[in-house]
Amino acid sequence: MKTYLHVLLLTLLSISCKGQSDANAERNVGGPCQDCEAVLDFKALNIAPKAIDTLPGFENNKPKLKITGTVFQRDGKTPAENTLLYLYHTDRKGIYQPSKNPFGWEKTHGQYRGWLKTGKDGKFTFYTFRPAPYPKVQEPEHIHIYVKEPNTIPYYMDSYFFESDPKLTSEKRRSQKNRGGSGIVKLEKKNGIWTANRKLILGLNIPDYK
Ligand SMILES: [Fe+2]
Repeated sequence: MKTYLHVLLLTLLSISCKGQSDANAERNVGGPCQDCEAVLDFKALNIAPKAIDTLPGFENNKPKLKITGTVFQRDGKTPAENTLLYLYHTDRKGIYQPSKNPFGWEKTHGQYRGWLKTGKDGKFTFYTFRPAPYPKVQEPEHIHIYVKEPNTIPYYMDSYFFESDPKLTSEKRRSQKNRGGSGIVKLEKKNGIWTANRKLILGLNIPDYK
């Protein structure tokens, strides 16, 4: 009887440990993404992402932007807390320009980048400036946005594009995958700053997301 109880205890323990490790495992979603590890640069930089933040270069560049939004779970209704967002964009010449001493993925993504983390209401706000389009290729101006949920690896969503951008052709609009929902936003001037809002839906149009 004693042995039987012992075996039962060990079995229960192993089931509970397995359950725990599965719960902590990061789901592999979003398909190939070479630079998604950039999302994790904040750790080595000792940055504690907040729901509201200002990207470098805000003071010295214009037009200034205030981008607000809410992250929702896949149902499109439940606010998603503890969601990490990573943003980066070009400078006013359309270049991903690093600073003099770039760290990690800043060498590729440039210095105008930042991290946010949603609170219970899923809301976030970031201040930055409007990037310029790439100098030599026909590509609309855009702000990249990547996301990391507590239990997924980082994945990317559709970049922010601006409704008023003449380079945002109908062909370009049609080619969007709408990852996380459409990234095309309409800028409106409020209190002297160009403002836009976007709803982000985790997992929407994201490969391997169940
Ligand atoms: Fe880009």
